[in-house]
Amino acid sequence: MLRRLPESLVNRIAAGEVVERPAAALKELVENALDAGATRIEVALREGGQALIRVADNGSGMDRDELTLAIERHATSKLPDEDLWNIQSFGFRGEALPSIGAVARLSLTSRKAGSAEAWQITVEGGAVTPPRPASLAAGTIVEVRDLFFATPARLKFLKSTRSESGAARDVIDKVALANPQVEFVFQEDERRPVRYSVAAGLWDDEAALRERASQVLGVEFMSNVERVAFARDELSLAGFAARPSAHRPTTLEQYLFVNGRPVRDKVLLSAVRGAYGDTLPAGRHPAVVLFLTMPPREVDVNVHPTKAEVRFRDSAKVRGLIVTGVREALGQAAQFTRCALAPQALGAFHPEPFSYAPRSYATPAPHFAEASFLQTVPPSARVSESVLPTQSFGRLGAAVAHVHETFIIAQTPDSLVIVDQHAAHERIVYEKMKEALASGAIKRQILLIPDVVELDDAALGRLLDAVEDLAKLGLVVEPFGGNALLVRETPALMGQVKSQALLSELAEELAANETTRGLEQRLLALLARMACHGSVRSGRTLNGDEMNALLRQMEETPASAQCNHGRPTYVEMSLSDLQKLFDRK
Ligand SMILES: Nc1ncnc2c1ncn2[C@@H]1O[C@H](COP(=O)(O)OP(=O)(O)OP(=O)(O)O)[C@@H](O)[C@H]1O
Ligand SMILES: [Mg+2]
Repeated sequence: MLRRLPESLVNRIAAGEVVERPAAALKELVENALDAGATRIEVALREGGQALIRVADNGSGMDRDELTLAIERHATSKLPDEDLWNIQSFGFRGEALPSIGAVARLSLTSRKAGSAEAWQITVEGGAVTPPRPASLAAGTIVEVRDLFFATPARLKFLKSTRSESGAARDVIDKVALANPQVEFVFQEDERRPVRYSVAAGLWDDEAALRERASQVLGVEFMSNVERVAFARDELSLAGFAARPSAHRPTTLEQYLFVNGRPVRDKVLLSAVRGAYGDTLPAGRHPAVVLFLTMPPREVDVNVHPTKAEVRFRDSAKVRGLIVTGVREALGQAAQFTRCALAPQALGAFHPEPFSYAPRSYATPAPHFAEASFLQTVPPSARVSESVLPTQSFGRLGAAVAHVHETFIIAQTPDSLVIVDQHAAHERIVYEKMKEALASGAIKRQILLIPDVVELDDAALGRLLDAVEDLAKLGLVVEPFGGNALLVRETPALMGQVKSQALLSELAEELAANETTRGLEQRLLALLARMACHGSVRSGRTLNGDEMNALLRQMEETPASAQCNHGRPTYVEMSLSDLQKLFDRK
């Protein structure tokens, strides 16, 4: 018998594709919140999302009529010009909410911006209860309870709660990466919420993306990436690519976005693979965060039920863009790269044109007191005589001066190198400690007189919980009554340690990392903090031998061009750049 299927059945069939698991429903709800212009999105899950998914946003909200329409099939506010080749929003099909309502207990509570009242509508297994007055200050709250209660057969396909909640967290992480301007709070059951605070700027703003990526992926991840920024024709690629040495066992840490939309697309995955070529060991994968931007007409986003895949008009062009863009970024990832100065940076070296206007004595020039002209060497610069630049030195050359008690100036046969001593030392200590950690144990030194450190309750609690982890890192502490901790042993590599400051910082790191997955990641984050602490702080005077020793250590240290926070540890200016500065060429 040929017949039309009832709408409820059509919705259930659609739900099978659109919401194949809790994380997929969550993705739809979060995308709706973003489409509504939310700047804060709060997500709560129970039992991996099967019992409850709750998404609260502060977006534009819906009035009574809009709520009724929202749960109807093919009702959308997002296709004003009916052009599927010009999609600017995440949603466009008008099927997510009716699909969810067909297989779960769905409730939408919303208050339209500027309206005096809030409304609530519910759909349970396809049965709609019309809107009734509700109370809500602003925005929208969507609750999905008992997912698949109406289609019990689907329940069997759900994985463990743990794996469903992992998938949900992954959804939030991806969406959060693409939206640094939005605050996200994610809470699972009774656990402490994960919070990504607002980074001022959109993902195409390097600083904002860097900040959000550090929150989502961790400082360790970001300390091993190169910036990608490449454009060709109307296509552009931006983001970060991990150095080949930071390879991973899976492709899970490849975060790929097309016009801000998270995708897992074969063309993109294979292009990323191609970009790294044989720099990776067999069976290992790179980690990347890449945003591909192109005119909407270049890509069809309507080819996959959960919009996870896309189809490019010209996939060869897309592949070329990624391979070239990532390679170009990684080309600078070698341990020693001539960190060519950008034209703007170079420009900053040019002196201001001289001004012959007589200066008023009432407003002295800010930088030089009159007396400083009488000194041959400014007080904070010291030229080291102990160094002969003609001697054979390593790649970073010979130290010739130490300035502002912060920077080492070194000379190579064809360039000038400026090293940030603190950043460089931090990287060296970190890499050494990491190596020691990997090979079993970090050497400790026993303090002759243990340090007593006073901490507040929260910090103390966190450190006591982490006593075993800290011992793995060479830091042995024990409770000392009241709010005090006794520090018995410290990592030998760190040299002399200021216990109070170190422990406060570690407690801070523990607080920031409470939600971090995986012991290894947590240990590395602590290690990075320690390394930073044990490093030569700027402000210490170094002699020629010490400076050269630091340069030689840098030459032997992996990833030594960046400190643990991803800042450069040195810059190099080629002789030809210097000549350009002085108009010699
Ligand atoms: N959080 C929200 N805030 C404001 N309006 C919303 C919200 N969620 C849904 N809506 C409204 O309800 C409509 C239907 O949402 P639904 O997710 O079903 O479809 P869509 O987003 O238009 O398309 P798609 O099915 O591709 O997601 C949206 O077009 C929007 O107008
Ligand atoms: Mg939608």
